[in-house]
Amino acid sequence: MSEGRLDGLSKDEKREMLQAILGRPGPGGVPGSSVLGPGSDAGAPAAIPEQFYRFDRFPAYEQLMAQRFIAERAGIPSPFFQTHEGVARDTTMVEGRTLINFGTYNYLDLNGDPRVTRAALDAAERWGTSASASRVVSGERPIQGRLEARIASLLNTEAAVVFVSGHATNVAVIGHLLGPRDLVVHDELIHNSVLMGVRLSGADRKVLSHNDVGELDRWLDKNRGRYEKVLVAVEGLYSMDGDVPPLPALVRLREKHRFLLMVDEAHSIGVVGERGRGVREHFGLEGRHVDLWMGTLSKSFAGQGGYIAGTRALVEYLKATCPGFVYSVGISPPLAAASLEAIRIMEAEPERVSTLRGNGLHFLRRIREAGLDPGLSEGYAVVPVIIGNSLEAIMASNALFQAGVSVQPIIHPAVPERSARLRFFISSAHSHEQLDRTVERVAEVVAGVGPKERR
Ligand SMILES: Cc1ncc(COP(=O)(O)O)c(C=O)c1O
Repeated sequence: MSEGRLDGLSKDEKREMLQAILGRPGPGGVPGSSVLGPGSDAGAPAAIPEQFYRFDRFPAYEQLMAQRFIAERAGIPSPFFQTHEGVARDTTMVEGRTLINFGTYNYLDLNGDPRVTRAALDAAERWGTSASASRVVSGERPIQGRLEARIASLLNTEAAVVFVSGHATNVAVIGHLLGPRDLVVHDELIHNSVLMGVRLSGADRKVLSHNDVGELDRWLDKNRGRYEKVLVAVEGLYSMDGDVPPLPALVRLREKHRFLLMVDEAHSIGVVGERGRGVREHFGLEGRHVDLWMGTLSKSFAGQGGYIAGTRALVEYLKATCPGFVYSVGISPPLAAASLEAIRIMEAEPERVSTLRGNGLHFLRRIREAGLDPGLSEGYAVVPVIIGNSLEAIMASNALFQAGVSVQPIIHPAVPERSARLRFFISSAHSHEQLDRTVERVAEVVAGVGPKERR
């Protein structure tokens, strides 16, 4: 890849920039941070370093500012926090330009569908824009219960409960169900929200090599007896890599080791399975084979929030005791209505799911034919192109922006540095022509012959 606007920088500056972008402090520490010197009176209030009580002196904040400064000096704009001027579908408008869009999870093109928008408007007119308090105290809006019943039927479970954020669902539920005598085993590629939940719970944590069911079995043979509850958490479609877990094997081990199995279907619901019912449908399983079916409403379902589907006992227990539900506002009626309508449309129009599947496979095939590396992707809605270096991934994203393609870089620490990547979210609305044009542009950029980075 061409070095582009990096040409004017010294070797030290480039190294410093890379370290800053990768989130590691440079050798000299962070300029301007206060550190207690030898002989300071550590007990006196006056000696408390500013980094402990001023946000603008937090070392991590200063590092962030250094990173922005260096990137600006090198003429590398941030590809993050771009402003979209309308609904992001197969295309999106940014800075007055129409780009082919791969940066949003609008997998079934239901965000922006007039029927979904209408449902949200009707609900807002009837119940207002907010539930205005926790459902425990402020009571129910029937649309919330209808959404939960629909999710339960989609997942073939007894019941479901909806939270106001997908991330918060994992934090709240794992943090509440597990405790210090318990263990969470999770795939090494698991989402941050699961890790935050484990931290809150105080449970022990065991990281599993990606999809390695044999390792899980051997480890539990030796260690299961040391813990009370054991939760095994995997994703239904890995959000960074786009592959599906070996769920039937995990279900068999669940019986053997008596652990609780949790599948985060943030990216697989609406995407995997012939009719979009997720990995359960894909593998021909029943709802009862998994203890916690978790998912988000912010992706295929055109809304915002998270859900847990499972047994009636689990759902009743969470609704009565889980702090993230009991002490948090109920899902807003317009958002509940939007997701309910999105699920209805998905079931009435299964061709959306099959078109998405066709698009994903087509894009994956073209990426491979172009000699690019899609990592583990199985050609569902998530297809990465591994760049192998965070700085170059940012520069490739900027160059693609110039070439009319919106795609986000995924950099360290979200993924290991050697697998920094561009991550493409495919939609049922993309045409093969858009996908082919994108692959051509990506190949050009990666080969270093693409347009210069965005200024
Ligand atoms: C696997 C996974 N779980 C949970 C979440 C959190 O969901 P939300 O963004 O709806 O809060 C995400 C977000 O992208 C995710 O990828």
